[in-house]
Amino acid sequence: MKIARLPLAKLTTIGVGGEAEVWTVETLRDLKTATQAPYRVLGNGSNLLVSDAGVPERVIRLSGEFAEWRPDLSGWVGAGVLVPSLLQAAARLGLSGLEGLHGVPAQVGGAVKMNAGTRFGEMADALELVELYHDGGLHVYRPSELGFRYRHSELPEGSIVTRVKLRLTPSTEEAVRAKIALVDAARKGQPKKKSAGCAFKNPPGDSAGRLIDANGLKGTTIGRAMISLEHGNFLVNLGGATAAEMYALIRKVQAVLPLEVEWEIWGEIAPAEVEVHQ
Ligand code: FAD
Ligand code: EPU
Repeated sequence: MKIARLPLAKLTTIGVGGEAEVWTVETLRDLKTATQAPYRVLGNGSNLLVSDAGVPERVIRLSGEFAEWRPDLSGWVGAGVLVPSLLQAAARLGLSGLEGLHGVPAQVGGAVKMNAGTRFGEMADALELVELYHDGGLHVYRPSELGFRYRHSELPEGSIVTRVKLRLTPSTEEAVRAKIALVDAARKGQPKKKSAGCAFKNPPGDSAGRLIDANGLKGTTIGRAMISLEHGNFLVNLGGATAAEMYALIRKVQAVLPLEVEWEIWGEIAPAEVEVHQ
């Protein structure tokens, strides 16, 4: 186990966030030790906006036995494994079920917690069993017990996803790659700049990005944080943005549209009081 104070800006895709004590756990014993005090679990940091002051809790990262998997995708897959690696393996093996997650830079645990996906499929569809650590021990659940909905799960309080068993359907490499290409085409309009994916959930029957666009909010810039010109639901870090600036952008959108934030916000963030450019 490694324990170090690290800037979370380095461990999140949006590149924002202050320091925290990061506990990298490799065994169940490590996990038991790390969870003796208040904690948060970090996956690949691709859906997080972390306060500039960091967080006071321990930040647990899964490594070692929690990042193991077999290249044939049989058996248990560690929650610390990257979804894009699994998807590549699944394509080579001609196994279908994960294609809807193409382009989602998550770890398995973060994808389960957020039920990540696209309209082509979501994480819950590809799960046979989920192993969770909570209340001092490991527990195995069927996905039907975990309250999966659009970008939502209901895991027992304090749960850490440790491993999953995937439910994939035998297909062909060509068919799997063809479906990936469809998802890829649907993602073409998304920006490459640093972000945490879509900032807001889609309201039923509509798209938050479309609404933000239709309300003329694209291009709004606060400090180094900007509503992407390519896709209205991507709030991007132009380089050196603060959490306060990113959060001020969220408030700016919410002043106009009643959208629910999809990002997980860690720590207290007061929106920056800086000039808005449009
Ligand atoms: P993190 O961001 O690290 O954490 C997110 C939440 O999960 C936190 O609450 C964290 O505590 C919890 N968590 C992480 N690991 C565990 C664990 N092992 N056990 C329990 N809880 C855990 N999302 C989509 O749904 N669809 C998309 O198409 C999509 N596209 C994206 C594109 C880009 C470029 C980016 C940057 C993000 C995108 N996202 C998308 C958002 C993001 O990838 C997902 O929300 C993903 O599920 C987050 O996973 P993560 O491992 O990065 O989790
Ligand atoms: N649109 C606009 N202007 C914009 C953005 C979108 O008019 O600036 C329009 C598009 O033209 C399209 C509609 O809105 O007609 C929907 O846009 P898109 O196909 O890009 O889908 P989305 O609903 O904005 C969703 C997910 C994405 C996922 C894509 C995959 C949510 C909040 N977003 O986006 O997920 O990658 O579908 O197609 O569910 C994420 O959750 O982080 C994420 C990136």
